[in-house]
Order: sequence, then structure tokens, then C-alpha cells
Amino acid sequence: MTTKIVVFTGAGVSAESGLKTFRDMGGLWRQYDIEDVASPAGWRRDPEAVLAFYNERRRAVLAAEPNAAHRAIASLEERFDVTVITQNVDDLHERAGSSRVIHVHGEILKARSTADASLVYPWRQPDIALGDCCEKGSQLRPDIVWFGESVRFMDECHALVGEANRFLVVGTSLTVFPAAGLVDSAPRHADKLLVSPEPQAVPDGFRFVRGTAASVLPRLADDWLAGREAAGGKTP
Ligand code: APR
Repeated sequence: MTTKIVVFTGAGVSAESGLKTFRDMGGLWRQYDIEDVASPAGWRRDPEAVLAFYNERRRAVLAAEPNAAHRAIASLEERFDVTVITQNVDDLHERAGSSRVIHVHGEILKARSTADASLVYPWRQPDIALGDCCEKGSQLRPDIVWFGESVRFMDECHALVGEANRFLVVGTSLTVFPAAGLVDSAPRHADKLLVSPEPQAVPDGFRFVRGTAASVLPRLADDWLAGREAAGGKTP
């Protein structure tokens, strides 16, 4: 029986690739008002400001490279059944080699019709501009879940977490729901780890491993791939 690992990531896993987090010092929500750039109301009020916000982030993603944490997570597939559930909209997990990545908050390298949400286009050019339209002639928007919009794949993700033998949570403040609620679906018997460089509220039953993703995950992956227990953990 192959050990099932679910890895749940947030902006912190891409921080060492040079991409900004949201709530740290220098984070995006200290520079921008969520309402202005990441909400349907903001889009209605000033679509150009919203497009500019995501164009800047898309350019950063296109210029970024996966870091050692993304690569370590991808390497776990050598021995384990791995699913990555990410709140991140970048493609760094995929570029590092992870083959099963679920984006619950959307993807910045895709554009979506404002008239028909089923019309989604790969979008690897730097900008979406006013006037870039779908085949039906409607303005394109980033294929990102804004605050107040439905988060994706949550039933599937809760089921996956509920079947995990190991649940690794990396680089997320666990402050945005419903995504953060995934931690409640982790089985009691599963090995549950939370990795972050800063102390944060640790969900019941989780072990806290203090450190950055790019420093902790390569060691953790080496331990797991070698069949060693993770630092101080139990390995089913
Ligand atoms: N390695 C690991 N964790 C890190 C690192 C690092 N190098 N640097 C920062 N962190 C941690 C921070 O300590 C924090 O706990 O990553 C977390 C980042 O938290 P947030 O900035 O809140 O990002 P995230 O949890 O992904 O936000 C969730 O909020 O605004 C929405 O849609 C947006 O998906 C995002 C969601």
C-alpha cells in the first residue's frame, strides 16, 4: 500500500523564489487593499487597476524559478502517492516536477472570459490588457479566485486530506477560509506537520517544524525517501 502524502502550500513556499507573500512584512496586503485589486467590486470599479496588479505578479512568476522546497516536494513522488493542494497561483510546483497540483485559488498563467467562465485560456504573456477579449468578445480577467468568489475543488481536497497518511502544511498563515479549513479533515492517525519560519497557531495534532521551506523540506524529503522518520515524527 503506497503511503499517501498531501502537501498543502501557501505563499511562503514560493517566498524563496522571490515571490511576495501576503501578510508578512512587505507582503502584498501591506501594499494593496484587497478590496481594490482582488474582489469583484474592485474589478467593477477599476478593472485596469486589477489588471495592473496581476500583470505585475504574473511578470514576477514568469521571472521566478522553483526553489529547493518545490523540488523536494516533487521528489517525494519517487516513492509516495503525492498530491499538492496549493493556495498559490504560480506554476512553480508544476515546473519543479509535481504531477498532481490542485490550485484552489486559481492560476495566474490562465485568463478567463468575463462572459463565460468555461472559457479559460493559457496566458504566458506578461500582461492582460483592457481590450484583450475572449472568442465571444468579452474582456478577459485573470483566472484567479477573488475574495467573495467560490474557492475551487474543496470537496475533492477535503476527501484527499481525509485519506492522507502524511499531511504536510507549508508556508501558509492558515488565515483564509475555506482553504485553511482543510487542516480539520486530516485523520487523527496521520503524521501532520506544519512548516514555517515564524511561530504561528498550530492546529491540533500537528507538529511544528520551524524553518523556511527551502531549508526544511529537502531534509524532510531525504528522511522520508530513505524511510527514516521525519525529525521527531512517527512514520507509518
Ligand atoms: N518558508 C516557509 N514559510 C514562509 C516563508 C518561507 N521562506 N516565508 C514566509 N513564510 C510563511 C509566513 O510565516 C506565513 O505563515 O508563509 C505564510 C504566508 O502567509 P500569507 O502571506 O498569509 O499567505 P497564504 O497563507 O498563502 O495566504 C492565503 O490569502 O490573500 C489570500 O489568496 C491569497 O492564497 C492567498 C491566501
